[in-house]
Amino acid sequence: MALQINATNPEHPALLLALPWDTPLEEWPEEYLVPLPRGISRHVVRYARAGDEVIAVKELAERPAVREYGLLRDLDRLGIPAVDPLAVVTGRTGRSGGPLEPVLVTRHLRGSMPYRSMFETTMRPATMHRLMDALAVLLVRLHLAGFAWGDCSLSNTLFRRDAGAYAAYLVDAETGELHPRLSPGQREYDLDLARVNISGELLDLEASGALHPAVDPVGFGHEICTRYQGLWQELTRTSVYPAGEYHYIERRIRRLNDLGFDVAEMQIEHSPGGDTVTFVPKVVDAGHHQRQLLRLTGLDTEENQARRLLNDLESWMATQDDHAPGDPLAARPEVLAHRWVRDVFRPTVRAVPPDLRGSVDPAEIYHQLLEHRWYLSEQAQHDIGLDTAVADYVRNVLPRARETLEPPAPA
Ligand SMILES: Nc1ncnc2c1ncn2[C@@H]1O[C@H](COP(=O)(O)OP(=O)(O)O)[C@@H](O)[C@H]1O
Ligand SMILES: [Mg+2]
Repeated sequence: MALQINATNPEHPALLLALPWDTPLEEWPEEYLVPLPRGISRHVVRYARAGDEVIAVKELAERPAVREYGLLRDLDRLGIPAVDPLAVVTGRTGRSGGPLEPVLVTRHLRGSMPYRSMFETTMRPATMHRLMDALAVLLVRLHLAGFAWGDCSLSNTLFRRDAGAYAAYLVDAETGELHPRLSPGQREYDLDLARVNISGELLDLEASGALHPAVDPVGFGHEICTRYQGLWQELTRTSVYPAGEYHYIERRIRRLNDLGFDVAEMQIEHSPGGDTVTFVPKVVDAGHHQRQLLRLTGLDTEENQARRLLNDLESWMATQDDHAPGDPLAARPEVLAHRWVRDVFRPTVRAVPPDLRGSVDPAEIYHQLLEHRWYLSEQAQHDIGLDTAVADYVRNVLPRARETLEPPAPA
């Protein structure tokens, strides 16, 4: 049987041809290998160099290799964070003439860490909560796409830190199944597997002394379920709003924030029946919003202010015609952010008379206006709009705030 390389990209076969396919993966000479940390696996997995790229090579039987390759391509098409499949190599023959196992080749996920390496330095419980959140986001996204993982675990996930955000990527799709949609029973089953796997993996770490003493392995297993369910509910429940009713959308974003998740992307689709909103959640590190807002707008604020301002910016962006994530012709976020500062942020702050503003900085004023609008809209049960909020704030709130700030008149 002749060596056969089936690849997504026509450039890859030539690069891959240079690798020692007539040698079992376990015996590949050092010169081909890249020494990066690997997670626990059933199959032999090695990292190798192919041209400028680092690839992950996994030896397994032909059928599962082809199947996993296909599933990883599906996940790529669905926009799910997972490793990129590059090729399946079959028809390998050893030097003594005997057949060798086929391999699945994926692109090494740059900057990623298997969880075991992340735990080599004791991880603070707060960081662990963030990792669980990232995994919950991944599982929810997979389930929304109709993918039942079948073996969700820490070993089958890669974690990446990216500008203060945490992201989880699927690395092992072997047990996965793609359906048009999943039933509640299928999701529950998948989630239960995740819970059992994660508790087990954390118990292992505990036994080897690599776990923070405050971390309860079984508790963390349950936590993934709670996080998943909260997120699922918040993302999937009734999602058609009366057109332009920004308030309901904000209420949902705030609930996501309260659950500890952030909105990475939001899209509003207008239809005669109302607005349908979809969110993509993400998990972020402390100080992330502050840095993000500073980068986009030049506004330097506290973390909480930054989060509210970014929510406002993100919602406003979703209403702009040239906002289309993923479309190369769409306006860049920096450009839209600049427009928001010019057309929304500055005029709003300017609507507050300077003598009432006092020494409070513009970002704080804007933040207070957003909070005031939120407060009044909750009372009114609909969005009262920023202009009304500003007017009410100037008339009723600021004068009283000044009274309490100013020193009493001398007697
Ligand atoms: N594309 C990749 N990028 C980074 N690491 C990878 C990649 N593919 C595999 N790995 C590493 O190899 C380990 C085992 O891979 P996996 O597909 O789970 O094998 P198995 O099917 O034997 O469980 C993973 O936990 C991960 O650490
Ligand atoms: Mg695995």
